[in-house]
Amino acid sequence: MTTQNPSEPAEQTQDVYPPSSEFSTNAVARPSLYEEAAADRLKFWELRARLLNWSKPFTEVLDYSNAPFARWFADGRLNACYNAVDRHIESGHGDQVALFAEYEDGADASYTYAQVKDEVSRMANALQDLGVTTGDRVAIYLPMIPEAVFAMLACARIGAPHSVVFGGFSADALRSRIDDAGAVAVITADGQFRRGKALPLKPAVDDALDGSQGTVKNVLVVKRTGGDVAWTDGRDHWWHELREDASTEHEPVAVDAEHPLFILYTSGTTGKPKGIVHTTGGYLTQAAYTHRNVFDLKPSSDVYWCTADIGWITGHTYVVYGPMVNRTTQVIYEGTPDTPHQGRWWEVIQKYGVTTFYSSPTAIRTAMKWGEDIPAKFDLSSLRLLGTVGESINPEAWRWYRRVIGGDRCPIVDTWWQTETGAIMISPLPGVTPLKPGSAQVPLPGISADVLDDNGEAVQPDEPGFLVLTDPWPAMLRGIWGDDQRFIDTYWSRFENRYFAGDGAKKDADGDVWVTGRVDDVMNVSGHRLSTSEIESALVSHPWVAEAAVVGAADETTGQSVVAFVILRSDALGDVEAEGGEENAVQVLRAHVGQEIGPIAKPKKVLLVTELPKTRSGKIMRRLLRDVAENREVGDTQTLADSSVMDLIQRGLAGK
Ligand code: PRX
Repeated sequence: MTTQNPSEPAEQTQDVYPPSSEFSTNAVARPSLYEEAAADRLKFWELRARLLNWSKPFTEVLDYSNAPFARWFADGRLNACYNAVDRHIESGHGDQVALFAEYEDGADASYTYAQVKDEVSRMANALQDLGVTTGDRVAIYLPMIPEAVFAMLACARIGAPHSVVFGGFSADALRSRIDDAGAVAVITADGQFRRGKALPLKPAVDDALDGSQGTVKNVLVVKRTGGDVAWTDGRDHWWHELREDASTEHEPVAVDAEHPLFILYTSGTTGKPKGIVHTTGGYLTQAAYTHRNVFDLKPSSDVYWCTADIGWITGHTYVVYGPMVNRTTQVIYEGTPDTPHQGRWWEVIQKYGVTTFYSSPTAIRTAMKWGEDIPAKFDLSSLRLLGTVGESINPEAWRWYRRVIGGDRCPIVDTWWQTETGAIMISPLPGVTPLKPGSAQVPLPGISADVLDDNGEAVQPDEPGFLVLTDPWPAMLRGIWGDDQRFIDTYWSRFENRYFAGDGAKKDADGDVWVTGRVDDVMNVSGHRLSTSEIESALVSHPWVAEAAVVGAADETTGQSVVAFVILRSDALGDVEAEGGEENAVQVLRAHVGQEIGPIAKPKKVLLVTELPKTRSGKIMRRLLRDVAENREVGDTQTLADSSVMDLIQRGLAGK
C-alpha cells in the first residue's frame, strides 16, 4: 500500500492516510481501547456505562438469556435528560453554551446548559400538567429549532418515550406513526422555514389526527412562522403561553435502564414502517462512548456540528443524546444548505468556528457539483475533524472532502451504523486508524462484526458477502414496537444468533470493511431509507394505478434515486387522457406519493409500462427493472414467466 498525495486526482481505492503525530498525541481514542475490549468485552462496556450518572447503580452488565432480546445494565436506574443536562450544571459548566441555533434567515440564538435545563424543565412541567406521564408516548413533529431538542429532552425527563417524525413526512405518514405508537400528545410548530418560505406544519397534524385512532389528547404548538392556524380548543395549546407559567424546577424521573427512551420509525422491506425501540442505559452508554471517541470530543474547546435532522437516528444520537451527555457545544441549523446561497454551510462553520463537522456523502457530492470556489470563500481553518454517514462515500468525494473542506489536515471518519444499531458500529478511530477513502474500516472497540457468505461462513478477503453483527451491543434495538415476531424475522432469521443488517459488504486483506449497499428491498436516497414496497403501496392507492414496481437506481448525487414502473388501469385510461395524458399522469402520480409519504419519497422517474417482469411464482424481478432504470443491458431473463416482457417494456419506453 502506498500513501498518496491527497491532491492527486487518481481514482485509486487503496491509498491510505495515516494520522498526523500531532493528532495522535492529543487524541481521545487510544489504540489500547481495542485490546481492552478484546480482553473483556463486558467489562469494557461496564466501565463505559459507569461514566453515566446512575440514580441506582447497576450490578449486572448483560442479560442475554432471552436472545435476541438483550437487557443491558438492567437493574440500574437513571434519567437520560439528567445525564444530558443537569449533571453538567452540577459539575460547574452551566454557563457553557450547549446550542448555537442558526436559523435559515441568519438570525440566531444560543442556550447554555443552564438555560437548556430551564427550557426543558418548563416543557416537562407543561407536558405533565397536560397529563403526560412516565411510559406515555409523545409524537414530535418539528423543524430543526432548539425547541425540537427541548421537546425530546423534556420527554426523556419524564420517561415518556418520544417518537420523532421527520417534518418532511406527510399527514398520512404521521397518522400511521401516531396510531402505531398510541401517542397521547404531539409537539409541533405552526410552520417551518424552508428555502426562504414559511411552510405550514400544524395543518398536517390536524389532518393526521382527523381519522386517527384518537389516542392524542393534547397538541403543543411552537410558534415559529406566525400566521393563522386552525385551532381545536381544549386540545391545542401554544407553547409560548404554557411556557410563561411553567416552573423551571423539575425533578427528572429515574427509570429502569431498559425503559424505552424512544421509538423511531424506519422503512423496512414491507409497506409498514417499523417502530424501532431504543431503551435508556445501553443506548446512552454507546451514544456517549462513540461520540467521544469517534469525534475526538474535547468538551471545553470543540464546536461540533452534525447536519442531520432530529427526524432521523443521526439527529437522535449525534445531535441530542451523544453530544449532550458529553457536554458538547454544538451548532444546529434550521435551513437547507443552499438558502440563501450555496455557501451557507461553510458560512455557518466560519461564523461559529466549527471544529467538528458530521454530514453525508450526498451533501458532499452536492457541494462538489456546486464547485470548490464556493467553500473557498469562507474561512474553514477551525475544522479539525470531518465525518460522514448514511451511505458509502466514493473515494473521489472523500478526497474532495478532505482537500477542499478539511484543508488536507482533517481526518475523516466514515461511520457505518443504522437506526437499529442506535449508535456507530464500524468506523475508524481518529488519531489511531490509518484512513482508507471509501471504507468504514473496522468495528469499534466493543463491537463485533463479520462478513458472511450465504451459508453463514466468513468470506475470503475481497469476496462479496453479508454484513452481520455477531455479539449484542448496548445500543442495539430492543425490538419493533408491538411486533416481536417481525423483529426476530427481520434481523435474526437469516443467520442463526447473528444480527443481519441488510447490507452487502466485503472485507479486504487488512480486515477493513467496505459496505456495498442494501441487499434487500430498501433503497438509500440521500442517506435516507425508503422502502420499495411502501412507495409501491402509495402508488397503487391511486385510482389510476393497476400495478407498480419501484427500484432504486444508481444516482450520481443522491446515491440512489427512486424509479417507479407503473401499469395504469385500463378503465382509467379515459380519465388519464381527459386530464392531460401520460405526461400529466406521471406528475399526478409523483405528487400522490409526496402526499402519501412525503416529498423525499417522490419518484425521480415514473415510467408507464404495460407489463412487469415476474417469475412464475409472481414475484416482480426488480433486478431487471434496475437494469432498465440504469440504462444497462438487461440481465438474465430465464426465470421470467414470460421472457418477452422485458422486450415489451424496453420497446414501449423507447417509443416515448
Ligand atoms: O445501508 C447502510 C447505510 O444506511 C443504512 C442505515 O440507514 P438508517 O437506518 O436510515 O441510518 C442512517 C444513519 C445511521 C445502512 O444499512 N449506511 C449508513 N452508514 C453507512 C452506510 N453505508 C455505507 N457506509 C456508511 N458509512
